[in-house]
Amino acid sequence: MRAVVIDRVGGSEVLQLSTLEKPLPGPGEVLVKVHSAGVNPADWKCRQGNLAQFLSYRFPFVLGFDLAGVVEAVGEGVEGFAVGMKVFAQSDVGAGKWGSYAEYACVRHDSVVPMPAGLGFTEAAAVPTPALAAWAGLFDDGALKKGQKVLVHGGAGAVGMFAIQFAKAAGAEVIATCGADNLDYLKLLGCAQAIDYRAQDIGQAVQAWSPGGVDLVLDCVGSSSLPGALDLLSPGGMLVAILTLVEGDAGPDHAAAASRGLRTAVTYSKMPSGGNLGKIAALLADGKVRPPRTETMPLAQVAAAHDLLQSGRAKRKLVLQVAGDD
Ligand SMILES: NC(=O)c1ccc[n+]([C@@H]2O[C@H](COP(=O)([O-])OP(=O)(O)OC[C@H]3O[C@@H](n4cnc5c(N)ncnc54)[C@H](OP(=O)(O)O)[C@@H]3O)[C@@H](O)[C@H]2O)c1
Repeated sequence: MRAVVIDRVGGSEVLQLSTLEKPLPGPGEVLVKVHSAGVNPADWKCRQGNLAQFLSYRFPFVLGFDLAGVVEAVGEGVEGFAVGMKVFAQSDVGAGKWGSYAEYACVRHDSVVPMPAGLGFTEAAAVPTPALAAWAGLFDDGALKKGQKVLVHGGAGAVGMFAIQFAKAAGAEVIATCGADNLDYLKLLGCAQAIDYRAQDIGQAVQAWSPGGVDLVLDCVGSSSLPGALDLLSPGGMLVAILTLVEGDAGPDHAAAASRGLRTAVTYSKMPSGGNLGKIAALLADGKVRPPRTETMPLAQVAAAHDLLQSGRAKRKLVLQVAGDD
């Protein structure tokens, strides 16, 4: 099969198109013929070694957390998946297995979910990792409740845009930070207010919207937005930071928060991910949540996709087309 492999960690030059043997699904696994592979910040972090403490690389290694495609075969003991079924999933790359930058990927069955009606492969491949992180941050770790007020830092990114929509769908009130170009987009997603993080005083804007502070801050950015986050919380409020794995990003100051009676957590998407991804698929199928705006690039341009995402200049969620039409 065609695949993008790395034989060492490093810059985008280590990404090489190669040919590997088509994998066979083991017990409990689904073999997916990959149509589209979402590109995540975790992919370039994984490529340059930032995730080394979390997963063991075996070279040649296939990167890629997210995929959409069709079921090619199922392993022993797997039920509920027919050959040809359209599915999407977070790959098992986080467990050190080959990921989604390949024509075929084996994924544990309890992470694989039927694709929501109405979505194409490109849109579906843009969903799993950012949506699962947003879900974990708001609900699994943030315990968000109906009627609560939430601030999402980084609302225009893939994690943030899902967080805004999930929070709204759960009956919360949401404001979020973004760059000037994205203010209208965030309103479209359901934000009561969008705050330009470069031009506005975030503290003042939050205070004007909710004088007592917010119940939950979900930080999808890291070191640039975390320092002032505790000051934006109401008494007993909670700061949840998405685990960014960026050097120098120390995460929330847990001790300072505790001394003020505030709560903190660092969140990340957990495996197996099929349970939460199934709930997310239902919201997408109902039209209650929209997928990110996407830009498709051929698999062969994976290095350019990594460079664009890593530079912070990507305007849309990047998705690699591995096979066929949408
Ligand atoms: N641990 C996990 O499970 C997990 C899962 C998914 C993602 N993550 C991490 O979460 C982070 C976000 O991921 P993503 O996929 O959403 O990235 P992304 O789509 O590339 O989004 C980045 C966004 O950050 C915004 N931004 C940058 N600086 C900002 C600031 N100071 N204030 C507000 N917004 C700011 C940018 O907005 P503008 O373009 O408008 O400036 C951009 O929209 C990454 O570090 C990623 O590695 C972790």
